[in-house]
Amino acid sequence: MKNLILTGFMGAGKTSVGKACARAFGLRFCDTDQMIEAHEGRAITEIFSNQGEEAFRRMETELLRRLTDAASCPSDPEDGFVLSVGGGLPMRAENRQLLKQLGRVVWLEVSADTVLARLKGDATRPLLQGRDVRERVEDLLSQRNALYGEAAHTAICADGKTVEELVSEIRLFWHSGKK
Ligand code: S3P
Repeated sequence: MKNLILTGFMGAGKTSVGKACARAFGLRFCDTDQMIEAHEGRAITEIFSNQGEEAFRRMETELLRRLTDAASCPSDPEDGFVLSVGGGLPMRAENRQLLKQLGRVVWLEVSADTVLARLKGDATRPLLQGRDVRERVEDLLSQRNALYGEAAHTAICADGKTVEELVSEIRLFWHSGKK
């Protein structure tokens, strides 16, 4: 399969690692949050506040369906991409199936400490605004980790690693041809 998919919690580094992998492997880079924002013409924070989280989750599934349909009859069969997916996307069973159809899925696994250090002061993640952020991150991680595991072909621990180190680890998986 010619597409690489990166999943994991907010702050796992999917976007920066994804962009670096795209450069290193000669693939295009795309990101589900950015594609939804472009399609809707508004920011994720606005979508959450105006339409609610459920509407955003439907948009994620619709986008994934469009990508899977397009990938099943590509205009250029050589044309692969690296896709960074929003942290909550793999929570729907249908999405987990679609992700595995679309490419080889790598889960960038992170601890609550890493998330909190990386996202300190971030105002772009609606689920992490307000008080008791540590508790929320810990709760979400404990609800989500098993599902990230189910959605992925492999897991890589991203705590304390540089983008370059993570690209090297992903490269080993990518060139192994393993699923
Ligand atoms: C979310 C993660 C965000 C974005 C939205 C919801 C989540 O993406 O899709 O704020 O539920 O974990 P990133 O993981 O890219 O931050």
